[in-house]
Amino acid sequence: AAPGTTVPFTPSSPLTEPTANARGRVAFPEGFLWGAATAAYQIEGAGAEGGRGDSIWDVFCRVPGAVVHGDDGMVACDHYHRYREDVALMSRLNLGAYRFSSSWARVMPDGRTPNPEGLDFYSRLVDELLGAGITPWLTLYHWDLPQALEEAGGWPARDTAYRFADYAATMHEALGDRVKIWATLNEPYCSAFLGYTAGVHAPGRTSPELGLAAAHHLMLGHGLAVEALRDREPEATLGLTLNFTVSDPVDPTDPADVDAARRDDAVFNRIFLDPIFRGAYPQDLLEDVAHLGLADHVRPGDLEIISTPIDVLGVNYYNGGAVSATPQAGTRPDGTASPEGTAGPDGERTPDASGPVRETRSPNPVPDGVHPHSRGLPLTDMGWEVQPEGLTRLLTRLQQDYAGPRGTALVVTENGAAYPDVVEADGSVDDQDRLEFIDRHLRAVKDAIDAGADVRGYFAWSLMDNFEWALGYTKRFGLTRVDYETQERIVKASGRWYAEVARDNAVPA
Ligand code: NOJ
Repeated sequence: AAPGTTVPFTPSSPLTEPTANARGRVAFPEGFLWGAATAAYQIEGAGAEGGRGDSIWDVFCRVPGAVVHGDDGMVACDHYHRYREDVALMSRLNLGAYRFSSSWARVMPDGRTPNPEGLDFYSRLVDELLGAGITPWLTLYHWDLPQALEEAGGWPARDTAYRFADYAATMHEALGDRVKIWATLNEPYCSAFLGYTAGVHAPGRTSPELGLAAAHHLMLGHGLAVEALRDREPEATLGLTLNFTVSDPVDPTDPADVDAARRDDAVFNRIFLDPIFRGAYPQDLLEDVAHLGLADHVRPGDLEIISTPIDVLGVNYYNGGAVSATPQAGTRPDGTASPEGTAGPDGERTPDASGPVRETRSPNPVPDGVHPHSRGLPLTDMGWEVQPEGLTRLLTRLQQDYAGPRGTALVVTENGAAYPDVVEADGSVDDQDRLEFIDRHLRAVKDAIDAGADVRGYFAWSLMDNFEWALGYTKRFGLTRVDYETQERIVKASGRWYAEVARDNAVPA
């Protein structure tokens, strides 16, 4: 049904020379936005308060073995009760903007009916932010679908897209006088393929066909929500956030490896980029997944809706990867270490040890046969490679091939790292590893700006340690430490450093 685009995948070569911004003080363009990000289910807690309904994550967390230690978001960082203190924390960090998400199930417990108490929480939060001079950047969907809508079919059902547009309009009705930047979705890749194909995220379903149906309906929901918001407020800044990989063939001279990189790129990146920016699914992807029914879900007019112009593309980048058509020796087929292998660290297994939970490097559900290989780069506590120059290549490519031609700006809406923090006797955390990670990625962002990418801002993931989905509270990404026993927040060395960066609009030497 849907025509495809035929722009071929061209692998780019990893940069080998150190760039101009690799050392020394690096100043950012005037007006560059410095922020930090969170998401509702990961921080709010108050799971059964204020009339909130169950989301798919509440239900998924109750499945034995689904989340490490049986953790859930019922209390999390208790942000629902501590939002004033948390906004004060943002002020201490000199943040110009705060990226957060609203819980659809708090605002519409059954997915359809507005709940004034839920809307009021976000209204109070927004007022607090504006009072502190911090720009609210609101994401409408960060993975927590109301369970009632899952029971009605979830994202594989077309109707969910229309429910989402109604929810967007309800939120705008309540907050549109004060919130001027709206993102529809966060990382639809994860919602579709980790949730409905790999089954490692809520709702834990495991079918390639369902994942693709979900992907299309998430995109349709995005487009319908953009239309609804644009109708209500033509001047609003609208967009969405995608997660990206940078796929390098293990052997660039081996056509099978280049093809693995192409397929990885298709299902991670272009499956969302092409419909949004070109109004069509990539032709090669349509061919790869022809047997899985993606095209059957695409009705006339859908791609026009999905490609409704957006103002800003949110870019989440954690890592790229080298991929091959064949598994790396000494590893499992997904690239993690087999017991006798060397490639993967501990701590990234599902509780039943049946496989890894690696959000952006999970085994690609569609199409099959893409195998990550270790390049021997340093790894974070998630087992993800540290490869800042991948961010330069990604931003440059997005500028040239997608956002630039449509006049869409780029903002890094997430970047950061989990490391096993050591708490000193006085409660401080001297996380030089995280500080250096962010330092190097900011330099990579500046390299992209210098190469012509229109990057307007950077949000660190995360403002504070929080619920890391299937890995529960075992992974810490925060600029701020959260003591989950006392709910005390302690700014880490990386947070103090980031506050200086935000104040000076520059990375210090
Ligand atoms: C991306 C997701 O948006 C966020 O929820 C998650 O915590 C981070 N990646 C780290 O995995």
